[in-house]
Amino acid sequence: MAVDLEDIVKKIGSLPPLPNIAMKLISLLNNPNTRVSDLTEIISKDQALTADILKIVNSPFYGLRREIVSIRQAINYLGFLNLKSLLLAINTRKFIQSGDLKDLILWKHSLSTGIFSKYMGEKLKVYNPDELFVAGLLHDIGKTVLRRKIAHVYDQILDEVYSTGKMFEEIEKDILGFTHSDVGMLLVQEWNFGDRMKNIIFYHHHPDLAENFPQETAVIYLGDQLSNFNGFGFYRDFKVSYNEGVLNILNVDEEKIVELNEEFKTKVENEISAFM
Ligand SMILES: [Fe+2]
Ligand SMILES: [Fe+2]
Repeated sequence: MAVDLEDIVKKIGSLPPLPNIAMKLISLLNNPNTRVSDLTEIISKDQALTADILKIVNSPFYGLRREIVSIRQAINYLGFLNLKSLLLAINTRKFIQSGDLKDLILWKHSLSTGIFSKYMGEKLKVYNPDELFVAGLLHDIGKTVLRRKIAHVYDQILDEVYSTGKMFEEIEKDILGFTHSDVGMLLVQEWNFGDRMKNIIFYHHHPDLAENFPQETAVIYLGDQLSNFNGFGFYRDFKVSYNEGVLNILNVDEEKIVELNEEFKTKVENEISAFM
């Protein structure tokens, strides 16, 4: 992963930090000795976070029969791993959403990629679907960072993608000399999200080149393709590109992916609303 951090920081400035409370909760969730009461105490002090967690846990995304009314119940139901994913999802949304249309499109693209990836991972028996959801959510986080840092230039890139249908990476390389995958990888490195996330984000447009975690990266690649194909993103008339290497890595064919898309697209549309 040859990325010149210094060069990028020189061009766009330093990378944004993860909010304090998220940092604290995530490090607690990584520690197996953490007690539910430690988490409940911190989360309950943040009313907005409490409301967000309860809203999402009771949404079609989790499909529960009985309503969950307290944070303690939510944590017991979710478990630490799912709670971590949920917190990352909530924080990613906060980070991406500024209220304007381009951010909204980016958010829907990220969210739908996350949900498609979760379901495809389950079907193709690749790793933990919950972590795939988060990886899908974060795969294009570099785009958001670039919009925050160099909005005028990046909006020009978004417009060019929309009007020409060219791939992001191609236009970014021309204009910036680096890509959103480079920036995204640096950001999750800064946020200590671990090697798997770093690799997936860096290679999400070229899973066939990934030496580590190729299967997870290939799932995110397909999630991204299906998200664009279903109209979540900046492309008009997007055609899925079935990278031969990706199909080999996952041992599937085009027909299977078309079938999975049919199976999941309505679910994805319904579940998106939970996070909006
Ligand atoms: Fe991307
Ligand atoms: Fe994407």
